[in-house]
Amino acid sequence: MSFATPDGYLKEARALPVAGASARPRIRLVEDAREVPVLGGVRSPLPLDSLSPLRYPGSKRKLLPALRQIIEANHDSPLDLFVEPFCGGASVSLGLLELGVIKHALIADFDPLIAAFWMEATARPEQLVRAMYRQPPTLANWDKWRAAQPRKTSQRALKCLFLNRTTFSGIIGGTAGPIGGRAQTSEYTIDCRFNKEQLAKRIRRIGELAADGRLLTPSEGTWQDTLRLVDGWAADLGAKSVVIYLDPPYVEKAHHLYDRPFSRTDHENLAASLLNEQRHWILSYDKVPLVLGLYGHFADIHEYSVLHHYTVKGQRDGSVPGREVIFTNLPTVPADSSSPEPARKDATR
Ligand SMILES: C[S@@+](CC[C@H](N)C(=O)[O-])C[C@H]1O[C@@H](n2cnc3c(N)ncnc32)[C@H](O)[C@@H]1O
Repeated sequence: MSFATPDGYLKEARALPVAGASARPRIRLVEDAREVPVLGGVRSPLPLDSLSPLRYPGSKRKLLPALRQIIEANHDSPLDLFVEPFCGGASVSLGLLELGVIKHALIADFDPLIAAFWMEATARPEQLVRAMYRQPPTLANWDKWRAAQPRKTSQRALKCLFLNRTTFSGIIGGTAGPIGGRAQTSEYTIDCRFNKEQLAKRIRRIGELAADGRLLTPSEGTWQDTLRLVDGWAADLGAKSVVIYLDPPYVEKAHHLYDRPFSRTDHENLAASLLNEQRHWILSYDKVPLVLGLYGHFADIHEYSVLHHYTVKGQRDGSVPGREVIFTNLPTVPADSSSPEPARKDATR
């Protein structure tokens, strides 16, 4: 039995039953108000064409400066291979490739529609672009795709792209409705995020990265499947430096956001695996007692808070600590990390 106290402590101290894992992490009492180094980094603007074509609830693009700081403090730049087993919109891999921080990215996701999108966008970008241009962003087409159960990878990819760009918050499955609702009377209608020209440029950019051998998508798979593939890919690429970046579904509200939410046991199994992992990894999470209890009490695992920069009227105005937390077994703390800044109440985004 465990419970979070109002002051942010997690009360629990039992060994966890973890299937098939030799490590048995214990959730410990962890103080949420601990001071941990803060990362912010310098934001480097990326061209629009290099952004992910998928909108993603919980996109980690905002973590790029912090992840860059950690990677560059620990490895010669560029890193040979970056692996993203929970890739979603793959915004981190795409961003780090464009910034030249990494040479290769290997991305995978367990969701069959997301995985199909990345397989098609990397292997057959022009076909996907042509098929996308034939899609009218209408309620009738939205209903058709919502009901469709395509078997072919190309059709799954199209379903993923269409629903992601026309559904509220980019949520592909579940009960989320079309942008603008059934009445389509709001300022934002179903077509407002379906800019075909812009999407075509982004898909073609993915095709270029794949054709250059920099963006690799093996197939759909669980995070365990991807971890099993890493050494083989690293050997094929001659990669000496490898970092695995894990961004699992949120602990809270995940069932509203993703078709493949994580159960508490899934979170515990991931911890059991990472606490035993010899290869370098970085993990981002929402800052909740379960997560702090699983990872927050090991001397060889570093914890960071992340500053989010915000702008008002086009001007950089300040930064606030975000709600994410980063854990990593990479040993070197970036020299430019700082002590926490107090949150500003007037922050607007
Ligand atoms: C928080 S999202 C990743 C968001 C991504 N970092 C981004 O910036 O767009 C988590 C992803 O994990 C995937 N997922 C859920 N369970 C999984 C599993 N067992 N193995 C691999 N991926 C899984 C979901 O489909 C979802 O795309």
